[in-house]
Amino acid sequence: DRADALPYDLAGRRVLVSAGGTREPLDPVRYLGNHSSGKQGYALARAAAQRGAHVTLVAGATSNPGEPAAVDVVHIDSAVELEREMQARAVDADVVIMAAAVADFRPISVAGSKIKKGADGPAPITLAENPDILAGLVRARNDGVIPAATLIVGFAAETGDENGGVLDHGRAKLRRKGCDLLIVNAVGDGKAFGTEDNTGWVLTADGRETALPFGSKTLMASRILDEVAAVVPNGGR
Ligand code: CTP
Ligand code: CA
Repeated sequence: DRADALPYDLAGRRVLVSAGGTREPLDPVRYLGNHSSGKQGYALARAAAQRGAHVTLVAGATSNPGEPAAVDVVHIDSAVELEREMQARAVDADVVIMAAAVADFRPISVAGSKIKKGADGPAPITLAENPDILAGLVRARNDGVIPAATLIVGFAAETGDENGGVLDHGRAKLRRKGCDLLIVNAVGDGKAFGTEDNTGWVLTADGRETALPFGSKTLMASRILDEVAAVVPNGGR
């Protein structure tokens, strides 16, 4: 039957996935955010669970892709909260996938009460840089806080520009982040953000590059997990 056709190659594996966008608070009612739908991270969480993994999904703001079956979901708002959850939970994960769209910057301070219009016009918003959560997970693994065997996967949405194409930027980002796999998506022209379909490459730290076929985020998720399962043998621990 159909169930027999599903690969069960992540049986017993613990997979930690982040998804969606972070919201960076300005005052009690306002935030800076982004248009992440969370669909790719949710599709990964769902597909990993179907392949037998114990999945925890740390979710920011999404377009409500629907709660995935048999997945523990933890909700966060800001990048700082996401960092705390990922660092705490990665210590007993076999695979960590950073699919979240983390805001690069946050307002440097959060007003305690609602910001009012004044006679002087709007005050500028001063930003501080958010922690790089993915790079921090790699650092924690180097420091022995996260097990050396834990596979760390990042995402990159790239456009080509005068400094190089999508793949050039992806390769540079993989080196900069120090993760094991980087999923590179070509964006622009309405690709990826908020859409159903996705396309890209899986780059590995040891130099392998696999093209991902154009297709749904569900299909992308299973191709990505094929790559993950190839480096993380099943069996649990
Ligand atoms: N990421 C993260 N923490 C951040 C920013 C990004 O963990 N503060 C993660 C994302 O979840 C993704 C990967 O890093 O898995 C790449 O994100 P991206 O925004 O492409 O990289 P940046 O280092 O922020 O570089 P850029 O200047 O291109 O935005
Ligand atoms: Ca960024």
